[in-house]
Amino acid sequence: MSDIENEMDVDAPAPSKDITFSSEATKGKRTTANLPVEAEDSLPWVEKYRPTTLDDVSGHQDILATINKFVDTNRLPHLLLYGPPGTGKTSTILALARRIYGAANMRQMVLELNASDDRGIDVVREQIKTFASTKQIFSLGGPAAKGGSSTAGYKLIILDEADAMTNTAQMALRRIMEKYTVNTRFCIIANYAHKLSPALLSRCTRFRFSPLKEGDIRVLVDKVVEEESVKIGSEAVDALVKLSKGDMRRALNVLQACHASSEFVPAPKQVAGSVIKLTVEYLGTPLRAKGAPKIPDSEIKRENITTETIYNCIAAPPPDAIKEIMSTLLKTSDVTSCLNTINSLKVSRGLALADIITALSEELVKLEVKPEVMITWLDGLAEIEHRVSGGGSEAIQTGAVVGVVRGGVELMN
Ligand SMILES: Nc1ncnc2c1ncn2[C@@H]1O[C@H](COP(=O)(O)OP(=O)(O)OP(=O)(O)O)[C@@H](O)[C@H]1O
Ligand SMILES: [Mg+2]
Repeated sequence: MSDIENEMDVDAPAPSKDITFSSEATKGKRTTANLPVEAEDSLPWVEKYRPTTLDDVSGHQDILATINKFVDTNRLPHLLLYGPPGTGKTSTILALARRIYGAANMRQMVLELNASDDRGIDVVREQIKTFASTKQIFSLGGPAAKGGSSTAGYKLIILDEADAMTNTAQMALRRIMEKYTVNTRFCIIANYAHKLSPALLSRCTRFRFSPLKEGDIRVLVDKVVEEESVKIGSEAVDALVKLSKGDMRRALNVLQACHASSEFVPAPKQVAGSVIKLTVEYLGTPLRAKGAPKIPDSEIKRENITTETIYNCIAAPPPDAIKEIMSTLLKTSDVTSCLNTINSLKVSRGLALADIITALSEELVKLEVKPEVMITWLDGLAEIEHRVSGGGSEAIQTGAVVGVVRGGVELMN
């Protein structure tokens, strides 16, 4: 419920504003207009740029078109949105609720429960049932429904992260969903559909949010880069978009982290008579003394964010390091020297074996080799990855990687 409550708390400083139901004025300005100035300043970009209307959601065109049609014809079924993190499920449903009811009415008409709330059997029996079983007395027509469709005669119950609900609670939901369909719609959001009870699944219209396409992520990243005046080259944006693997939240968080660390601070220049000349400039946001005036953003000098910064921030192994490992493994027949090269690269570039395995398998599949060679590689790397994630020793498993790749190469000859 946090999202909605925050909004309402911030929304309603003056009572007069409540009475006029100026939903139009507040709608779509959840993070920018409604928050106090300081909050907006310190808000993480994922929240600052959370889509407020369905049109702001990037990608998922077919899903959005279908949902829009449901609302237009006033035939909203129970919904199930599922898919990997950071693809816009929560944002979509909040934007949908805002579209149906308008920002001012959301508090009365929407019950949002997520993993931070207790959602055991008691909550289903009490809270959800109470909310679902009460009808609103006044119709939402007139000024109150401005910006939302005035005919919506149902309330919305959003169960976010529903795969974390207990089994018994899911069971109890089944009957409640059926019984109160007249005046309520459920929207269930989950990462994994298989963790939900099949009976619950069959009561909902399912939409799978696939990982976002690179183009869709780029649209928002470009917008943020422009609005926050981030200094970043286009190859670095390419790398960021590619490395975020369809997760918009990750893309924005990494961008913000890189932006913060790109601050360029002149160190105190040399003190007269001092022996050491301090003319070095260093990177990083300086700690400000309490009460010291804030430096305006425009006056802060920033370094250009490079591809390397992005790789470092995500802690992905840089492509040139992987290339070097690949060519060593493919060309050097002496296993010990292979192992030494990889070990020294791991130390000098700070690489983790798990990341090397992922990157290596992505590169190896691109090669054209005999099927049995490819099978040896893929099967072997999968085994090693499993053992590493189970706590296998880095040193020994690094040896195993060398063994597997070299074993494949030997098969080639
Ligand atoms: N399709 C999208 N369009 C625009 N922004 C998006 C999109 N998807 C994600 N974002 C950005 O990522 C943030 C997180 O998105 P959201 O909370 O909707 O993800 P989610 O799918 O609910 O993830 P989770 O499964 O982890 O709850 C949003 O605040 C927004 O800034
Ligand atoms: Mg979510």
